[in-house]
Amino acid sequence: MISVNGTDLLCRQEGPRGALPVVLIHGFPLSHAMWDRQVEALRPEFHVAAYDLRGLGASPAGDGQFTMETLVDDLFGLLDALELPDAVLCGMSMGGYVALRAVAREPRRVRGLVLADTRSAADDDAARLARAAAIRAVQREGLAAFADGFLARAFSSAAAAERRPCVAAAREVILRADPRGVCGAQLAMLSRTDTTPALASIRVPTLVLAGDSDEITPPESARAMTAAIPGARFAVIGGAGHMSSLENPGEFNRLLLDFLRGLPRP
Ligand code: MLT
Repeated sequence: MISVNGTDLLCRQEGPRGALPVVLIHGFPLSHAMWDRQVEALRPEFHVAAYDLRGLGASPAGDGQFTMETLVDDLFGLLDALELPDAVLCGMSMGGYVALRAVAREPRRVRGLVLADTRSAADDDAARLARAAAIRAVQREGLAAFADGFLARAFSSAAAAERRPCVAAAREVILRADPRGVCGAQLAMLSRTDTTPALASIRVPTLVLAGDSDEITPPESARAMTAAIPGARFAVIGGAGHMSSLENPGEFNRLLLDFLRGLPRP
């Protein structure tokens, strides 16, 4: 645990200090464990930090009241605590929302961006009402039904059948989460701003990835986001839904390593 911004964040660090730093920011409502296969692949060459966002995984939820800006404050606090003036940010879905706000707020602290299965647009009213219903359901009925509904949408049906242990592990992470943190994260996403106007100002190398059957953040919206970021690269990951790094880790890691190896070293 690392004390940051008035809370504690669980953080796994691997790889040589002094190598290019890469911070992995997980999706909702998972934990840093979703990046295990990426940490294995990156640690021989890169200094990798994978942490649990406030309220998720093992990072405490506090009173459950936080915004996307709080999560960005946490990220910058973590970089300070790790003595990293800057890093490549790799964010999946909600982690991408954090990364997009981070680069808009403090571009000098971001060396490169990997945006996986994410979007820049804020929630529309339908999405806000769906999150309000999900919060109500978690508060009344707990996390099990919520976990099943989320996982059914997040994993492609093929991957869900072929990768049962992976889906079961994700379910366990959700069931172990603090409901206050899960609801707090929903509130933070529901109230987040639209980062689309800031895309044109991004000046760091950027890779956008999307699972070919991602229904939560479809490849078409990822492609449009890529077009708005100067010089950004886009790749579709075959045989994957929203959880592309878990569903097709081989292809995800190949694209990630190829991108990171092309960045200037410290
Ligand atoms: C995620 O995977 O982080 C979530 O699906 C993001 C969201 O609910 O917008």
